[in-house]
Amino acid sequence: MKKVYIETYGCQMNVYDTELVKAILDKHNYTLTDNEAEAEVFLLNTCSVRENANRKVYNRIQQFKSKRNGDRVLIGVLGCMATNFRQQLLKDPRLPIDFIAGPDSYKRLPKLIEEVSQTGEKIFDVTLSEFETYSDVYPSRSGGVNAWIAVMRGCDNFCTFCVVPYTRGRERSRDPENVVAEVQQLAAEGFRQVTLLGQNVNSYRFEDKDFAYLLERVSTVEGIERIRFTSPHPKDFPDSLLRVIAENPKVCKQIHLPLQAGNDRVLEMMNRTYTQKEFLDLVDKIRNLIPDVVLTTDIIVGFPTETDAEFEDTVRVVETVQFDSAFIFKYSERPKTVAARRFPDDVPDEVKTERIVRLNDIQKKISYQKNLAHVGEIHEVLIEEEKTKKSPDHYQGRNDGNKIVIFPKGEYRKGQFVNVRILDATPHVLLGEVVEILDK
Ligand code: 5AD
Ligand code: SF4
Repeated sequence: MKKVYIETYGCQMNVYDTELVKAILDKHNYTLTDNEAEAEVFLLNTCSVRENANRKVYNRIQQFKSKRNGDRVLIGVLGCMATNFRQQLLKDPRLPIDFIAGPDSYKRLPKLIEEVSQTGEKIFDVTLSEFETYSDVYPSRSGGVNAWIAVMRGCDNFCTFCVVPYTRGRERSRDPENVVAEVQQLAAEGFRQVTLLGQNVNSYRFEDKDFAYLLERVSTVEGIERIRFTSPHPKDFPDSLLRVIAENPKVCKQIHLPLQAGNDRVLEMMNRTYTQKEFLDLVDKIRNLIPDVVLTTDIIVGFPTETDAEFEDTVRVVETVQFDSAFIFKYSERPKTVAARRFPDDVPDEVKTERIVRLNDIQKKISYQKNLAHVGEIHEVLIEEEKTKKSPDHYQGRNDGNKIVIFPKGEYRKGQFVNVRILDATPHVLLGEVVEILDK
């Protein structure tokens, strides 16, 4: 019974993959521990979407190694940096890494660890699969209100900045019946909400079944009251899908709509497959069909050759759309991507910084205005925590639009739905008081 400690970096899909890895190891005579000091196997589930992650993981390994100097501990790198680390290890065999497993190799992990510990030789397993969806593994989730469930993996879009198609391979979707069976089990375990996950979730397709079909099927599961999904691409919002979001009461009225840039030349260089006008038209269409929809976005500033004037187009789109919130990133060149191979990373870091600061300021004001506009309304909130980061006397949950709502603690508990009157807001959260406990 080897003790395994696992640390996770990156996106929600990686957090989910860690739950898969835990389930797989648990079945094979490994015990999981939260205490790195007693670990016999130290795993890092890595991310490579932006730079410096590499250095972070490398430093973490060194730090761990020096703390446990002399102990016999196996160190393994999992996830999106697997291939990358493999090359480093080939260059420098003294790196303290014993094995590497990519995102499609987790079922082979128990054997792999066994082999490494017997032979003492380094092992790599980084081959990507066209088929692996882990549909036969039931993730080891740490209880709660929301369960993540991957319905598709990989990405075929090849946005020129993005490393995901290289680290996670081709798109593949799970059988909808298999997804529904898992959601039924989740409901039986007491989960109230599921979030369907995929690198490109709305391009889900299994035989002739699309994402709209999947949402409808999942919504038939009793006990699950809310369904969310992430992360979608603007190109895959047919009317049929928008209608399901608009009309199905369990599907939350919240859409993450990654803009990335507001200028047509930059969008084309990014291979986003839409123009500024097409994006704005889609936003109008969504708002017509789903009037109170909450829209959030991702934006990259300082993409190669982006001029000041082109950046202003992004600013204009942000001001026009009025997203509820936005994640804004400085462009960071990723190995293998089309952008890294063809375009010079020529926007100076100071300019990227100026752009991100300016856009964040603008967005913060918009988010604040949007949140203040909710004051006086009553929102249905699913309670997620019986404390907040700042106060043990407050609970927190989320409204249908996925905004965090904070209210004083009382005769209600995690997993319940309550109606909250919104009394105040910050750019990031809504504050209120419970006016009714709902028996959903
Ligand atoms: N540089 C900066 N941001 C990136 N993202 C993806 N790749 C890069 C990159 N090379 C951002 C995108 C994406 C989010 C998950 O991360 O905005 O939507
Ligand atoms: Fe990072 Fe992308 Fe991999 Fe998620 S899929 S861990 S964001 S590189």
